[in-house]
Amino acid sequence: MAKDEKGMTDSELHRKLLALWKRGQSDLCEIQCSSIHGSGVYAARDIAADELIIEYVGEFIDKEQSSKRSTLQLERSAKNGDAAVFIFNINSKWDLDGNVPWNTARLINHSCSPNCEAQSRGKKIFIHALRKIKQGEELTYDYGFDVDCYEEHPCLCRRDGCVGYIVSRDQWHILDDKLGRGKTSEKAS
Ligand SMILES: C[S@@+](CC[C@H](N)C(=O)[O-])C[C@H]1O[C@@H](n2cnc3c(N)ncnc32)[C@H](O)[C@@H]1O
Ligand SMILES: [Zn+2]
Repeated sequence: MAKDEKGMTDSELHRKLLALWKRGQSDLCEIQCSSIHGSGVYAARDIAADELIIEYVGEFIDKEQSSKRSTLQLERSAKNGDAAVFIFNINSKWDLDGNVPWNTARLINHSCSPNCEAQSRGKKIFIHALRKIKQGEELTYDYGFDVDCYEEHPCLCRRDGCVGYIVSRDQWHILDDKLGRGKTSEKAS
């Protein structure tokens, strides 16, 4: 029987890919065209506050691989304005690269008034609801971007109190100073 370089037969590989694919899906959400950007992920039914919505799946990579891929992502981002976050820190040895086609959660957009949050549990990452979410609402979370490169990432979330850039909420006060404007930090909820 033919085996690949890791010693797997075709049917073993097929079963593994199917299991990976299933882990990246959830009955609670679905991919749709987004009003924020490109594709987004929407609630397929009403979701309760704190409910676990979907696992953020991907490939475990070591820190060396991670730093190489992050550099490539940054170069790509500088060229085409992409603000993609796919690599999550897991522990001192491993990161998770979510840039794989079976990871539905990779399509969740950023918003200044997010209804979700990414939480780690051991070596896994899950997307949880921060509040009640109505069926048909777009799921969003705070990408947590550093304020230093704010100009490269304009925010199109159009939520009340949108600060205009994809910047971590923790750093909105610095953004306010840089833009010489009054506090936006309390406007979005
Ligand atoms: C991880 S992807 C999210 C899925 C993306 N909408 C797509 O169709 O591929 C990140 C990309 O979405 C865009 N994006 C996400 N949130 C955004 C926002 N609030 N405003 C503008 N662009 C956003 C960024 O440009 C970034 O390139
Ligand atoms: Zn915004």
